[in-house]
Amino acid sequence: MTEMILVIGANGQIGTELVTTLRAKYGHSQVVASDLHPPKNAGSNGPFEQASVTDAAAVRAIFEKYKPTQVYLLAAILSAAGEQKPKLAWDLNMNGLLNVLDLAVEFKVAKVFWPSSIAVFGPNSPKQNTPQYCVMDPNSVYGFSKLAGERWCEYYFEKYGLDVRSIRYPGLIGWKAAPGGGTTDYAVHIFHEALAKGEYQSFLSADTELPMMHMDDAIRATVSLMEAPAKSLTIRSSYNLAGVSFTPEQLNEEIKKHIPDFKLSYSDNDPRQAIADSWPKSIDDSQAQKDWGWKAEFDLPKLVEDMLLNLRKIK
Ligand code: NAD
Ligand code: SER
Repeated sequence: MTEMILVIGANGQIGTELVTTLRAKYGHSQVVASDLHPPKNAGSNGPFEQASVTDAAAVRAIFEKYKPTQVYLLAAILSAAGEQKPKLAWDLNMNGLLNVLDLAVEFKVAKVFWPSSIAVFGPNSPKQNTPQYCVMDPNSVYGFSKLAGERWCEYYFEKYGLDVRSIRYPGLIGWKAAPGGGTTDYAVHIFHEALAKGEYQSFLSADTELPMMHMDDAIRATVSLMEAPAKSLTIRSSYNLAGVSFTPEQLNEEIKKHIPDFKLSYSDNDPRQAIADSWPKSIDDSQAQKDWGWKAEFDLPKLVEDMLLNLRKIK
């Protein structure tokens, strides 16, 4: 079957890299990028449609025009930005998803990818090696919109047979695109500031350990999950996924191996700290390993080396 792939929220941190990967794999004309905003590299390498995913009629027109066989829905408001605009975050994260799920059923889309997050866990979830199934009491709008989204995904799979696949991404770290308003963004900004200024002020405290992942691993995981045989998938809410866990201080120590004079300071009154404190420190992803052979490739030294090497090339 010739695939026609629609990526919604394509201009963001993940979409920028995912669209490039999918176009290399399936052909430029077979991957339609869509976003609320115009593309940064206007029309450079494939079809683009500007629309809001909350506008059901506009999204329907895109489905009618391209008849996608796969849809990746990435448009969302992330954790920190969501606390600034809670109702807007709920509207986009929920109604955007429901619009896409309904259209996917109607247009008989073969597969849908929708990302969840470690934000589905909350203060009473186990912190270490957080299991796939446990107490989940997220206290950010972003977190409970993702948890509700997971329930909707499983519901559409069970009720309508829609092949929805999902990953609970950790904080993602890549050099090609800026992060879009999350609690883990410090772990991207730190590299840019280390190279530009030799110093950075972390908005999370020195010992705040969080699950993180190099973007290359995240894109590989996404494509692997979408290529896995449907019968091997046992989770239709969202898979736990682990990369590497570290604190700002551990990241500091690793960066200093490359930039010995780098200076990291800490702010002590940032609202993102409370969000981070409610999240896991590390994740048990044994089900993803078992069902579709997941294994992360980047540890902390490799991640730091890769970020600095590539950012130095483009700066
Ligand atoms: P991002 O904020 O960088 O990008 C989101 C994109 O969605 C932006 O290009 C934005 O313009 C677009 N968008 C916003 N409102 C829209 C609308 N109404 N209609 C269409 N497009 C709209 O986010 P990201 O980091 O690329 O994340 C993508 C997905 O992955 C989100 O669902 C996010 O929750 C999830 N996720 C990301 C991370 C991470 O660390 N980046 C971690 C866990 C989960
Ligand atoms: N990186 C994301 C955030 O911090 C996690 O979903 O919001």
